[in-house]
Amino acid sequence: MTKGWTKSDWRAKPRVQMPDYPDAAALSAVEMQLSKYPPLVFAGEARRLKKQLAAAAEGKAFLLQGGDCAESFAEFSADNIRDTFRVMLQMAVVLTYGAKVPVVKVGRMAGQFAKPRSAPTEVIGGVEYPSYRGDIINGFDATVEARRPDPNRMLQAYTQAAASLNLLRAFSTGGFADIHRVHSWTLGFAESDKAERYRELSNRISDALDFMSAAGVNPDSAPTLASVDFYTSHEALLLEYEEALCRIDSITGQPVAGSGHMIWIGDRTRQPDGAHVEFARGVLNPIGLKCGPSTTAEDLKVLMAKLNPQNEPGRLTLIARFGAGKVGDHLPRLIQTVQEEGASVLWSCDPMHGNTIKSSTGYKTRPFDSVLREVREFFQIHKAEGTIPGGVHFEMTGQDVTECTGGLRAVTDEDLSDRYHTACDPRLNASQALELAFLVSEELSAQREAARKVAF
Ligand code: PEP
Ligand code: CO
Repeated sequence: MTKGWTKSDWRAKPRVQMPDYPDAAALSAVEMQLSKYPPLVFAGEARRLKKQLAAAAEGKAFLLQGGDCAESFAEFSADNIRDTFRVMLQMAVVLTYGAKVPVVKVGRMAGQFAKPRSAPTEVIGGVEYPSYRGDIINGFDATVEARRPDPNRMLQAYTQAAASLNLLRAFSTGGFADIHRVHSWTLGFAESDKAERYRELSNRISDALDFMSAAGVNPDSAPTLASVDFYTSHEALLLEYEEALCRIDSITGQPVAGSGHMIWIGDRTRQPDGAHVEFARGVLNPIGLKCGPSTTAEDLKVLMAKLNPQNEPGRLTLIARFGAGKVGDHLPRLIQTVQEEGASVLWSCDPMHGNTIKSSTGYKTRPFDSVLREVREFFQIHKAEGTIPGGVHFEMTGQDVTECTGGLRAVTDEDLSDRYHTACDPRLNASQALELAFLVSEELSAQREAARKVAF
């Protein structure tokens, strides 16, 4: 137990990126109500995830974390949840094949509502409004009314998160994911050398599945093929919500964030003496920490000491998000800091948040080439440093959106307006997400080959 910590201590620390609720009485009524609701996740699940992340830190598993940039009330539907879940499973199969280790699946789902923003206001149609901060805080519509922070939104977010989790739990154990459809996944990829490589890989996967079924292994006889562990995660930004869902684990007596299995601290809220670090340090869940170009060695040392004082494996995931072409400037120095401190961390790569640009047609987008390049750089640097690239973290959806440019089914700047649906940052569509999985799978299998050669 973090000695002397209480779930409300963050209130005495400097806070950034959080709303000022105009109606204090309404806010405390909501907090009171939420604090009586059941937690969404249980401490035992968070502890199990922590063990699996500890394995990923050692290269014995691989973390796949993905989902919406921001979940929204408007886009909430069973189909959306199913499609994102399905793409995550497809990616996991492709990654498992390359890595030959279990893939730990963590959705940015069932709680990923609150958003940090680069500016407190934004200009829409020549008028300045308070920035949209995610559906749990205010509304997306460009009106003063919608943009006012409303604490009652927390109750709706809780309800949506609970219903999402309920469906995810049902999908995870209900035999939904049919991995035998692997070769159909690459059908949409246009002809190219890369598409050909991916087709070869999917053929090999489907051969392996055929072999297993000939040998009598099928989803009925092998429950691990029919059910999966699927965890939820989100940025723990809105601390009133997090505090209200904080509970005590009856087994260890430790506080646990009941809002999701894993929570992370964003690149804009990781001040070592700030409110967000103060809250996260006291709960037993696995914690992610976004590390961007401005992360200093000094800050990282203090953050690792605060967030993982016992150096517990699986507790801390460092999520590198520097931008393509910049990984070499920052990752080696942070890896060195981790090594100097003898810290146990899981290194994951977020190739999204350092690669956001404005398209020639005025949309916030991410070139898929930059996304792939950052992933490749992340792997190269870990290879050079002799450390373990243990996971990837990205924004995606199971829908066929046009938000990021490029990919084998090339989305152009002009296409962006077709199906641009995100409530916040541009996401990979289903095809781009699978293509990313194939690339990571190749990197992982090259790494395994290299390790095997060294062993001989
Ligand atoms: C995010 O993950 O949606 C996000 C805002 O990331 P970052 O804190 O790394 O900018
Ligand atoms: Co984002």
